[in-house]
Amino acid sequence: MNAPFHSARASLRDPFTAFVCDDATADLLRPIAVEHGWSPEKVNKGGLRNAVQTLSVSASPSILFVDLSESGDPLSDINALAEVCEPGTVVIAAGQVNDVRLYRDLVASGIQDYLLKPFTADQLRDAFANAQMIISGPRVSETATERPNVTAAVIGVRGGVGASAIASSLAWLMGDKAGRSTALLDLDVHFGTGALALDLEPGRGLTDAIENPSRIDGLFIERAMVRANDRLCVLSAEAPLNQWILTDGSAFFQLQEEIRHAFEGTVIDMPRNMLVQFPHLIADVNVIIVVVDFSLAATRDAIRVLSWLKANASGARVIVVANKVLPGIQEVSRKDFEHSIERKVDILVPSDPKTAMQAAKLGQPLGKAANSAKISQPLNQLLTLTLEQAAVEEEGAGRPGNASLLGKLGNLKALVAKKPREAAQAA
Ligand SMILES: Nc1ncnc2c1ncn2[C@@H]1O[C@H](COP(=O)(O)OP(=O)(O)OP(=O)(O)O)[C@@H](O)[C@H]1O
Ligand SMILES: [Mg+2]
Repeated sequence: MNAPFHSARASLRDPFTAFVCDDATADLLRPIAVEHGWSPEKVNKGGLRNAVQTLSVSASPSILFVDLSESGDPLSDINALAEVCEPGTVVIAAGQVNDVRLYRDLVASGIQDYLLKPFTADQLRDAFANAQMIISGPRVSETATERPNVTAAVIGVRGGVGASAIASSLAWLMGDKAGRSTALLDLDVHFGTGALALDLEPGRGLTDAIENPSRIDGLFIERAMVRANDRLCVLSAEAPLNQWILTDGSAFFQLQEEIRHAFEGTVIDMPRNMLVQFPHLIADVNVIIVVVDFSLAATRDAIRVLSWLKANASGARVIVVANKVLPGIQEVSRKDFEHSIERKVDILVPSDPKTAMQAAKLGQPLGKAANSAKISQPLNQLLTLTLEQAAVEEEGAGRPGNASLLGKLGNLKALVAKKPREAAQAA
């Protein structure tokens, strides 16, 4: 159930089974089943309860139609169905409750479509057509080819610097421009925007993975990841704010591993507190993209993050991206920033609120919505640098700059002493 994938076993399954609650629905379904070449006998009575009982002892069909009309709590009953339904089944539900929240929750639980009763024959045909399109779409295993995976982690040194915007843009470009099958793994479990940026519902895959790390395998990845397009899938969550995520980080690590096997590119949106909590998550990453802005706070934290990375991820290539750059009105000039962090900023992405707003409205990553070179050019450059590392794994290890953190903080202090007027003038 859930993700728009189908398992290798799909061809052995019945193409269609329905569990309906009333004769009228059965009468509507049967001729349309026949139109699709399916047996009308696959339209069973008994609704969701019968579906759960039947599927607990038999193989799941490719397309499952289930009537929720007799269900007192459709959402928890659907979860019971998820327990017995094999991955890859496309589920179409029908019911009498007209509530957009229920619809959203059902979709988030893995339902492909929800038809409000009474529905017409054409609505049903449309739902089946969409389900068939999903089933005939590309599989993860088909999109993944022999190119070795490159994993990039994107870390914002401060909140709001635009790390998630950079991560979703890079993932999209990696799929669309570089033609690599790509996964965007958003580890901001409560506040992640990976799915939102692509106009998708995050589903329950990531929270399921954290709750049951032992279930994470290739099949789980197929089921849990949400497809944005032919070359891009997302794993993201919107965990309830009253839900404390209890994990030792092993689920995240295993997810990285499985995704590495299934995709040619991984982009991890990694909240910076994860570095503190789960330092081992960065161990196998090829490229680390440190997103900064030219503020004093970001200068201090860029020094600290870069120093930490030098100690803990010396094998990865580090790329520093300054985002939201406004020429002339920064707290810290580029020159002073680079002096403080003792290295160059690799890429400058200008501030472009208009494109950012457009991207949000369209549900597209910044890199896709950008129609001017001033945003797309630096993002393409980021893609190039990231992919370079796929070929030159060790390059990032021998970078210059062994000065102590204290020394760097000394630079920062000098900068702070300059503030406010000189720093503003330097900018
Ligand atoms: N280059 C840019 N120009 C203008 N606005 C931008 C730019 N990059 C990102 N933004 C906007 O900045 C806001 C914050 O971006 P984003 O959510 O990516 O930041 P973040 O660093 O991931 O934040 P958080 O710390 O909450 O995870 C968003 O509204 C985004 O559209
Ligand atoms: Mg973010």
